[in-house]
Amino acid sequence: MEAESVLVTGANRGIGLEFVKQLVRLPNPPKFVFATYRDESTIEALKEIRDATKDTQVVLVKMDITKKDEVESARKIIEAKVGDKGLNLLINNAAALKMQGFPDITDENLLLHFNTNTIGPVMVLKEMLPLLQKAAALKSGGMNVSRAAVLNISAMGGSITELTDEQPMIFLSAMGYRISKAALNMAMRVIALTIKEQGVLVVNMCPGWVKTDMGSDRALLTVEESVSNMLETLPRLNESHHGTFMRRKGELAQF
Ligand SMILES: NC(=O)c1ccc[n+]([C@@H]2O[C@H](COP(=O)([O-])OP(=O)(O)OC[C@H]3O[C@@H](n4cnc5c(N)ncnc54)[C@H](OP(=O)(O)O)[C@@H]3O)[C@@H](O)[C@H]2O)c1
Repeated sequence: MEAESVLVTGANRGIGLEFVKQLVRLPNPPKFVFATYRDESTIEALKEIRDATKDTQVVLVKMDITKKDEVESARKIIEAKVGDKGLNLLINNAAALKMQGFPDITDENLLLHFNTNTIGPVMVLKEMLPLLQKAAALKSGGMNVSRAAVLNISAMGGSITELTDEQPMIFLSAMGYRISKAALNMAMRVIALTIKEQGVLVVNMCPGWVKTDMGSDRALLTVEESVSNMLETLPRLNESHHGTFMRRKGELAQF
């Protein structure tokens, strides 16, 4: 993978933090990694990576993905650093999960998920699109992550096909989350088809069930394993994957 610049949202903990850790350790690391957070008091680990990293400039950027002004300021910070080279890779990782099933479900719970997990990634992509287009225009040929790409961290929880009667009832209480990830998959497919001539690859990927605050200790995968699987998959992606939904090792998943 030869992406010169990568933006990771929700990078202060969990999968986002691990992306930053592993990106800077790649044999050919990016020149810039933009790592976003919401709360200054949660960025100790990010600061340590930033201060210990020589070959990559790790830039910490405050950005709540539901706040238009913060998304706009983040774009300006990134633009000032990357200049005419644009942004190669956006990893739309930030998301929220608050269990609440039917019929307890509230409109607040549904809106929290829709705002954070669907609208947020779409608006971040909308704001960063000119930078991704700039990067795409500098290279010709097919689509790939070294040119320009958007990796949306989705979830099998958003797959309508996979949700069957055999699954434990408790799975149904992630109702707002599931709806928002199904909507994210559709939103990104619509965007992928809309911008298909622009050289910006757009994919949706499930990281697996991962031991993070969201995934809990009961999860099957460590964050290291999940992220290294995804980073191994990324360089193999091309236009045949545009607008698809896949698992972390690249196997196509059903919407
Ligand atoms: N863990 C799993 O098993 C699993 C399975 C399938 C999919 N995923 C997906 O993987 C991604 C990462 O999940 P994770 O397990 O690492 O979750 P996590 O440990 O709960 O971390 C979530 C991250 O998102 C950030 N975030 C939440 N709301 C935000 C907002 N409005 N604006 C900006 N940042 C926000 C959080 O920031 P704060 O620290 O400020 O809250 C945090 O950095 C998510 O898209 C999730 O849906 C995870």
